[in-house]
Amino acid sequence: MLDTNAILEALRPVNDPELQKSLVELNMIRQVKITDGVVSFDLVLTTPACPLKGIITDDCRRAVTKLEGVKSVDINVTSEIPAQKAMADRVGIEGVKNIIAISSGKGGVGKSTVSANVAVALAQMGAKVGLLDADIYGPNAPIMFGLAGTRAVMPQGGGLEPPIAHGVKLISMSFFVDADQPLPWRGPMLNGVIRQFIYEVAWGELDYLIVDLPPGTGDAQLTLAQAVPMAGAVIVTTPQNVAIADARKGLRMFEKFTTILGVVENMSYFVPPDQPDKQYDIFGSDGGKKLAAELQIPLLGCIPLEIPVREGGDAGQPIVISAPDSAAAKALVAVAQSIAARAAVVALSD
Ligand SMILES: Nc1ncnc2c1ncn2[C@@H]1O[C@H](COP(=O)(O)OP(=O)(O)OP(=O)(O)O)[C@@H](O)[C@H]1O
Ligand SMILES: [Mg+2]
Repeated sequence: MLDTNAILEALRPVNDPELQKSLVELNMIRQVKITDGVVSFDLVLTTPACPLKGIITDDCRRAVTKLEGVKSVDINVTSEIPAQKAMADRVGIEGVKNIIAISSGKGGVGKSTVSANVAVALAQMGAKVGLLDADIYGPNAPIMFGLAGTRAVMPQGGGLEPPIAHGVKLISMSFFVDADQPLPWRGPMLNGVIRQFIYEVAWGELDYLIVDLPPGTGDAQLTLAQAVPMAGAVIVTTPQNVAIADARKGLRMFEKFTTILGVVENMSYFVPPDQPDKQYDIFGSDGGKKLAAELQIPLLGCIPLEIPVREGGDAGQPIVISAPDSAAAKALVAVAQSIAARAAVVALSD
C-alpha cells in the first residue's frame, strides 16, 4: 500500500553524499503527503544553497517513482543549518550555530579577503552570518565591507548591535579606535577585547560566525581556540614553500582544539586579462594541494590572483558581489559551500 511508511522506506537507502548517511535517518525528509498518487515531501538540506541539491533530489525522485501507484513526486527543498554540539569545558554564544575561524601561519596570504567573501557568499545563499574581525592591531575587515568610518560604543554590560553590510553583521576593533592610532596593548588586554567581541556583542541568531584571525599562532588564536566551541578552522595559504611551512604550524596548533575544515589555496595562479590563454604561477604551484594531501584534510578551493579581488576589497565591495562571474568569485563561492558542508558534517557526526 502506498502510505507514508512506504515512502520513507523507499527513501531510506538514499544517502546524503557528503554525510554518507541516510536522508531518512538524518531527519531530512519531512511532511510526507500522498494525494491521489501525487507524493510530496520536504527535503531539508543541511547547508544553504547546497551544490549537490540536484543530485539529492534526483536520487529521491528515482527512489519514490519506483513505487507502485506513484503518479508524480513533488519535492520542496529547504535548508536548516545544524548547530555544533555543545562542549562541556567551553561557553558557546547563544543563538550562534557555527563558529568558524579563518587562519594562516603567514601574514598577507588573504585571510581577510577569504573571510569577507565567504561571509558575503553565505549570506547571499540565505544564511544568517556574522564576521568577527579578531585582528585587533591591524583590523581591516571594515574597509572590505565599506564600513571604514563607522564608529560604535560598547554599552555598559554589553549588548552592542553590530553594524551590518552586504547582509553580514560585522564587529571590528576599528569601530572603537582611530585606524591610524597604534594600540600599546599586551596579550591579556587583547584577550579581553576578543572575549568582549565574542560574548558581549548582540549577535542574535546566526548560522555562521566567521572569525578573521591575525596571522600566526599568537594570543588571539589561543583565546578563541580555547574559549569557544568552534565548528572548525580553515587554513589559508599561498602555494609557495614558506607559506606552506607556516600554514602547517598554524594547523598543528588548531588541530589540538578543533576540527580543521580544510585548506584554501589563495593567489594560486594569474591569468592576464589581455592574454587569457596564458597562466602564470606567481607563487609556485600546488602547495595547498600538497599540504592537504600530506595532512589528509580537504582542499576547499584554489583562488586565482585577480586585480579586481584587491580592488573590490579596497572599495568595500567583495568580489563575490562586484564581479560574481569572475573565476575568483566562483572559486570563493565554492569555498563557502564547502565550508558549510564540512561544518554540517562535523555537527552531525557522532
Ligand atoms: N586572490 C587575490 N587576488 C588579488 N589580490 C588579492 C587576492 N587575495 C588577497 N588579495 C589582496 O592581497 C592583500 C592581502 O590580503 P588580505 O588582507 O586578505 O590578507 P590577510 O591574510 O588577511 O593579511 P593579514 O595577515 O595582514 O591579516 C589585500 O590587498 C587583498 O586585496
Ligand atoms: Mg587580515
